[in-house]
Amino acid sequence: MANVVIVGMQWGDEGKGKVVDLICPAFDAVVRYQGGHNAGHTVKFADRHFALHLIPSGILRSATRCVLGNGMVVAPDAFFKELEGLEAAGIDATGRLFVSQRAHAVLPTAVLLDKAREAARGDAKIGTTARGIGPTYEGKISRYGLRICDLGSDRLEEKLRALLTRADAELRSLGQAGVERPARLADQCRAWHERLVPYLADTELLLNRWSKEGKDILLEGAQGTLLDIDHGTFPYVSSSSSTAGGAATGTGLPPTALTGAIGVLKAYATRVGEGPFVTEIEDEAGEFLRSRGNEFGTTTGRPRRCGWLDLVAARYAQRINGIDAIALTKLDVLDELEEIKVCVGYRLGGKVHRETSAIFEGDEPFEPVYTTMPGWKQSTVGARELGDLPVEARDYLEMIEDEVGARLGLISSGPRREETILCPGLKPLLGDRFSDVAAQPDP
Ligand code: IMP
Repeated sequence: MANVVIVGMQWGDEGKGKVVDLICPAFDAVVRYQGGHNAGHTVKFADRHFALHLIPSGILRSATRCVLGNGMVVAPDAFFKELEGLEAAGIDATGRLFVSQRAHAVLPTAVLLDKAREAARGDAKIGTTARGIGPTYEGKISRYGLRICDLGSDRLEEKLRALLTRADAELRSLGQAGVERPARLADQCRAWHERLVPYLADTELLLNRWSKEGKDILLEGAQGTLLDIDHGTFPYVSSSSSTAGGAATGTGLPPTALTGAIGVLKAYATRVGEGPFVTEIEDEAGEFLRSRGNEFGTTTGRPRRCGWLDLVAARYAQRINGIDAIALTKLDVLDELEEIKVCVGYRLGGKVHRETSAIFEGDEPFEPVYTTMPGWKQSTVGARELGDLPVEARDYLEMIEDEVGARLGLISSGPRREETILCPGLKPLLGDRFSDVAAQPDP
């Protein structure tokens, strides 16, 4: 049995969608455990291109069951839109897509609040995706939010009234118009619930049953370690537990059922939205990474901030998540560079820090301490074996393994499934089913 968590080691956008899609054949089910449609996962194979936000990318494999766990926040209209897109592409989710009744519903008022709060923050804005994620999690923690099961409840009007009274007062205090009439929203909620019924399940029960039966489950984290509400660059974070710890609370599988963790690490760094970014580069090297790496948000289209790989942060992510193997993505984006910088320490007040959990919290900015490595100046696109890589690229990878303290599980050398090098670090995590990943035919 393998119940493996896969998490982003940076600020999201590490390329988790491709990695999940690729290792799916080793699992019977893929589960999202936090976040909502603020996430964006891109998967490419053959001549097809999918951008998924809520539904795990496992849905693209006909044998894989997919679960939206209780730790998620689900916008029903976004869910149906995604489902319709999949149906139009000939992908049948019937009988293998399950939504937790206890996930919280993202209502239109949450989107209004998200936007109004950001506008009111002015220069101190977080740069959210404006999808209503923060206000929905706030409703959960403050215990007035609506779960998916509440959308069909006899007490829906009463629950909605409590939520709308708060939202209305806050929106007006922020100079916005009030919220829409409760009766209309109640009708909308009931209609959503009716459409959702075929997918609703007690997903905690389902997952524990599958786990006991020896099924292999992949727990797919959205966003990344540095956007985690507890462990990220607070307050410039998302509102959920995107680290491996969230996989237990966000699904109902006990922590003891988790058997390993894969960390997805991009060969350089990016971030969308505001907040600290020690290795950010704003010169032509940053521009090169953005255009060569096509660093524009899948969800919002915003240009991403770009920078060098930060191994202090990667070590931190390894520690917080217990990462056993690294899936390194977008190595090919560095192909043309003369030299490549890697951050190995943070300097503050004349002292260099290599390990600290308070790395992002000071008022004074950290200065990156870089090691400069020679570039390989040749294409790595489509490499299938470690031996296909130039020696400078292999040195770069070796340095990452040494500094982070985890082995490489795979290297992505292009957006397509077949543009991947499988490495020995993946095998212990997948057991016998490693061969299902290695043996998959090219599309
Ligand atoms: P929110 O999740 O919309 O509240 O946004 C909070 C912060 O997380 C902002 O900086 C967003 O840009 C960032 N964020 C949220 N989801 C993602 C994601 O999937 N990838 C990258 N950044 C994200």
